[in-house]
Amino acid sequence: MITVSVKPLFTAIFTLSLFLAIVLLSPSSPFSSVPSNKQTGKSDIWGVKRLVEWRPCKWWIHRPRIALSAESNGYIRVDCYGGLNQMRRDFCDGVGIARLLNATLVLPKFEAAAYWNESSGFADVFDVDYFIQQMDGFIKVVKELPPEVALKEPFRVDCSKRKGQFDYIESVLPSLLKYQYISITPAMSQRRDRYPLDAKAALCQACYGALRLTRTLEQKAAELLEAIPKPFLSLHLRFEPDMVAYSQCEYPGLSPASKEAIEAARGDRKPWTGEAARIWRKRGKCPLTPNETAFIFQALSIPTNTNIYLAAGDGLMEIEGLKSIYTNVVTKSALLSGEDFLNMHGNTKAALDYYVSINSDSYVATFFGNMDKMVAAMRAYKGLHNTLFLSRRAYAELTSKGLDGKELMQALWLAHKEDFAMGRGSALPDCFCDLKS
Ligand SMILES: *[C@@H]1O[C@H](CO)[C@@H](O)[C@H](O)[C@H]1NC(C)=O
Ligand SMILES: *[C@@H]1O[C@H](CO)[C@@H](O)[C@H](O)[C@H]1NC(C)=O
Ligand SMILES: *[C@@H]1O[C@H](CO)[C@@H](O)[C@H](O)[C@H]1NC(C)=O
Repeated sequence: MITVSVKPLFTAIFTLSLFLAIVLLSPSSPFSSVPSNKQTGKSDIWGVKRLVEWRPCKWWIHRPRIALSAESNGYIRVDCYGGLNQMRRDFCDGVGIARLLNATLVLPKFEAAAYWNESSGFADVFDVDYFIQQMDGFIKVVKELPPEVALKEPFRVDCSKRKGQFDYIESVLPSLLKYQYISITPAMSQRRDRYPLDAKAALCQACYGALRLTRTLEQKAAELLEAIPKPFLSLHLRFEPDMVAYSQCEYPGLSPASKEAIEAARGDRKPWTGEAARIWRKRGKCPLTPNETAFIFQALSIPTNTNIYLAAGDGLMEIEGLKSIYTNVVTKSALLSGEDFLNMHGNTKAALDYYVSINSDSYVATFFGNMDKMVAAMRAYKGLHNTLFLSRRAYAELTSKGLDGKELMQALWLAHKEDFAMGRGSALPDCFCDLKS
């Protein structure tokens, strides 16, 4: 019968042409997977088609409003410590807890002094009126306490050291009801995905929908953004002495000055040696050096004439390793006028890096810290998807197998291309959902 002989032939031809079309058109085809023209950047990492995109979840953005409870159980202040983005993370979490407890929120305490030796409070960094307005319907926020409560210091409930699961309603609500005004520092270990939807939505809105920089800070940041040559890539490179000391990794080939700075920052944390050091490194625990970063950039076909903004402090070591290859690197200290810059503190400088990084054409992080998580989330919120976390693990595993040169570049390209396409490595917190595109 004719159909029997024609059908398979037709199917075969159809399948073959479909295969060819896929192979030829897909950016992951064998023909284009070798980065072609390095300088034109024609097939750089950003040209890879994303199969998974992170977007704000619908239950948060388009939620049916559930009326706030008429009765407030008391006032909660969230006390935040550490760097700017760590404080922000804990603050957002605290908003979720306050909602969970049907409490009224007081403006948080941003206790930066211990870390930055300064006193930048919440209102020095974020626009308070905007925050209050954006939280309308999610949680009640007050600037001032009623006089009878304002007289006393809040009763302190510190959850920050608690490990494992515990219930905020069980362990914090009694103090709130008793004292009517408490301060809390949320526990990092707590799983936020177990909060009821209202509380989660309040957390998400607080973190990503309600925080913008103060007008003065935003003006300064916009000025900086304006001064950066376009288009540009913002690079958060973490290779400071404290970071390296903390990582307990050893690096051969460092300059005497870097070695000295690391030793000074080390404290009790001695670096791993021998087999333990190799295992540690292979698990991706070691920060990438500027050298390694430049190498991976080349593997990703990021042209060496790309404008790069270094979103980092002034303590970066061995930065020549990057600058000798990527020659258009700019920093904020070079772009902002001297006096302005000198008057700025850690928090405000961190706010500038944050602002530039959520507005850049692309963002690359060499680590997975609080700033990187916050920036990646805000970029997803704004629909900017050229965000990439370099894989320390892939680099360590491949080099431990003895790969180098072109072979190493090709393997790094494949590893990162896969991560980028699948939205991996930038796993966003509970407020974002992955959409298959
Ligand atoms: C918060 O209020 C809602 C109703 O508005 C109620 O169902 C819930 O049990 C309250 N939670 C607490 C901890 O008071
Ligand atoms: C912290 O600030 C105080 C007062 O401004 C100053 O005396 C001190 O030297 C500073 N400490 C450091 C480590 O910068
Ligand atoms: C970076 O690479 C240069 C040239 O290959 C080398 O001299 C230097 O020691 C390297 N630095 C680090 C920190 O590996």
